[in-house]
Amino acid sequence: MYRYILKPILFRFVPEKAHNITVGLFKTLLSIPGGAWITRKMFGYESKNSSVTIDGLTFPNPVGLAAGFDKDGKYYHDMSKLGFGFVEIGTVTPLPQGGNPQPRLFRVPADKGIINRMGFNNDGVDAMVERIKKFGKPDNCILGGNIGKNKVTPNEKAVDDYIICFEKLYDLVDYFVVNVSSPNTPGLRELQDKKPLSIILNALTKRNKDKKPLFLKIAPDLTEGQLNDIIELVEETGITGLIATNTTISREGLATKTAKIESIGNGGLSGAPLTNRATEVIKYLHDKSNGAFPIIGVGGICNGQDAVDKIKAGASLVQIYSGLIYSGPELVKESKKAIAAM
Ligand SMILES: Cc1cc2nc3c(=O)[nH]c(=O)nc-3n(C[C@H](O)[C@H](O)[C@H](O)COP(=O)(O)O)c2cc1C
Repeated sequence: MYRYILKPILFRFVPEKAHNITVGLFKTLLSIPGGAWITRKMFGYESKNSSVTIDGLTFPNPVGLAAGFDKDGKYYHDMSKLGFGFVEIGTVTPLPQGGNPQPRLFRVPADKGIINRMGFNNDGVDAMVERIKKFGKPDNCILGGNIGKNKVTPNEKAVDDYIICFEKLYDLVDYFVVNVSSPNTPGLRELQDKKPLSIILNALTKRNKDKKPLFLKIAPDLTEGQLNDIIELVEETGITGLIATNTTISREGLATKTAKIESIGNGGLSGAPLTNRATEVIKYLHDKSNGAFPIIGVGGICNGQDAVDKIKAGASLVQIYSGLIYSGPELVKESKKAIAAM
């Protein structure tokens, strides 16, 4: 239904509007009598033994919603009904911020890609805290909190922003993700260097009294040397593992005309053009570390096989975002089925 009816309609709207329409329609469906039942019938699929336990936290199935879809914690209950085993909310920052001027989200349909330069638009961590307190955790679905820093915070003080978000959300989410890999906050990716990163990760592990799983999300554009540094850092700081990967700043190998890509401008590219690079990064991290820590694989999962490839490369769990835009919510079930059949 999504691919043949909804998608052609949604693609007539600018992407940010289409996103809002989609979540609005879904909310409406869930609120009408029988809506939740229809959703469960359409998207519900659980296989036996599909749960994955990491650091004592059991994910009911290995397919999650990636960060950025629900930046403010407004839709995680609804999205969990699509059968996700976990939903990651954020990236949230201490203070609310508007993000970059619109337009800042673009489709690249010939490549099944998305380019975004949203710039961490969000209502701030206090608003997120209030929402989670009000609506609670979703049933049978793990809730992750992806945290970042405000644009106005200089990198030398970034650690304070991560600590604020970590402490305010501590009792409300099941796991945390430190995001230093978005290309849309100037200078943020410099925090992926060993020194600043160890300051942030050590500060958070010190405050992690209940030993909640703590992941670091990395960019696909890191060199082998930088990936080696990150592996060392996981071992030195004792964080749980990595999320690989965020969006890429590369524009290599696209079918879309260069002029069109140039007219879009800066931003992170996701979706199908990222599939192979993200899988390559996962495999490198897994092989080089001898599988010493869990990896959440994300980047360009557009069908069940892509999800299987991420698991085969060494991921314990996978996440989806852009694939939902092109393939629709059926992708969640398709990915779960494909992984279960491995
Ligand atoms: C519109 C958009 C906004 C995003 N916002 C965030 C974000 O706030 N934090 C984050 O860690 N990742 C963010 N991402 C990256 C995704 O979580 C994911 O890592 C990336 O898109 C690759 O997966 P995909 O190809 O399945 O989309 C965003 C992606 C998109 C498309």
